[in-house]
Amino acid sequence: MSVIGFDIGTFAAKALLLNLKGKGRSATVTLAGLGIAQLPVGVMNQWEEQPVPARNAMAAAMKAVAKSSKLGAGKFAALSMSGDTMIIKKITMPVTSQKELRASLALEAEQYIPYPINEVIIDGHILGTDDQTGQMSVLLVAARKDVVYGYIQALAFTKMLKPAVIDVDALAFFNAYDFLNPDSRENVILLDIGANLLHITILYEGVPHTIKEESIGGQRITDDLEEAFGVSPEEAEAIKLGALPVSNPYEVAEVVDRVVSNWEAAIDRALEGVRAEIPEYTPSRILVAGGSALFKGLAEEIGRRFQVSTEIFNPFAHVKFNPKKFDPAYLNYIGPQMAVSFGLAIRKVETL
Ligand SMILES: Nc1ncnc2c1ncn2[C@@H]1O[C@H](COP(=O)(O)OP(=O)(O)OP(=O)(O)O)[C@@H](O)[C@H]1O
Ligand SMILES: [Mg+2]
Repeated sequence: MSVIGFDIGTFAAKALLLNLKGKGRSATVTLAGLGIAQLPVGVMNQWEEQPVPARNAMAAAMKAVAKSSKLGAGKFAALSMSGDTMIIKKITMPVTSQKELRASLALEAEQYIPYPINEVIIDGHILGTDDQTGQMSVLLVAARKDVVYGYIQALAFTKMLKPAVIDVDALAFFNAYDFLNPDSRENVILLDIGANLLHITILYEGVPHTIKEESIGGQRITDDLEEAFGVSPEEAEAIKLGALPVSNPYEVAEVVDRVVSNWEAAIDRALEGVRAEIPEYTPSRILVAGGSALFKGLAEEIGRRFQVSTEIFNPFAHVKFNPKKFDPAYLNYIGPQMAVSFGLAIRKVETL
């Protein structure tokens, strides 16, 4: 059964419905539906302080997208979380089977989570085991229960969608990469640069070694432009996208450069962390996704800075679609922003 991959970011709700046939390299993926709706700025990153407006905005956006893009009523949706309301951490613990993992994690996790253990939902994924030490490395994921329930409530409010599974942004992007590059053993860096978050996932031999989340995305550029030019948030966004000309474009470039330097510094820190454990670590490729990947010249700039081949990640390059229904130029443009929803759409199809 197909599920709608719903990536509810702090800037936009992105939905994707795929038809999948086969698995691995021989899989064919066909685009069935796609939708995107902007969310009110500053609402979705206030889940903890203001859960009701966040939940309502989320429900409204999901309903609007599901209706307008004919994604269908009564379908299951796969959502993902990110930000302060969840924690993702690589930990080391004694070897258990994937089946026993949850029970063992509940005991292990307490020391890593800054919330009372009964306020979170815990899950984990075994990354690798070391037979010599009897230890394994596990990706621990803990999400605030109230937020998870808020997500489920928002889905119920749409009266159109039912929850399938709730995933994590960075892992959904990794799943998208992994699906399109089966059996890859590459040292790839995945960057998801959204509005308020930058996710850095560093793969070592094809598996996530480090996942970092930084609270600085493309919205920072918009905010800084708003201040520098004394304009409205909407005008600042238009200046950023090049839709509103300004007399001093150098000032825009300066603001952009400052934020890009921050992103690069964050990548540097994450790389240093990896090299503390694996001194010879060298990335083979950097793949950039998220709405801020659409910035002209950003991939080239990051590539220059890290001296690594850097590309925009566009999942639609591997998807079949009917050009009478979907505009190829639009798909090519929007692809990077759909990386997380792609990962949700394919993974949940497999899980159900
Ligand atoms: N053509 C473009 N050039 C530069 N930036 C763009 C472009 N199009 C969209 N953006 C920016 O991308 C961001 C939205 O990206 P995305 O949809 O990935 O974010 P999000 O998932 O909602 O946010 P987050 O993951 O941070 O919560 C916004 O800051 C927007 O201004
Ligand atoms: Mg996002």
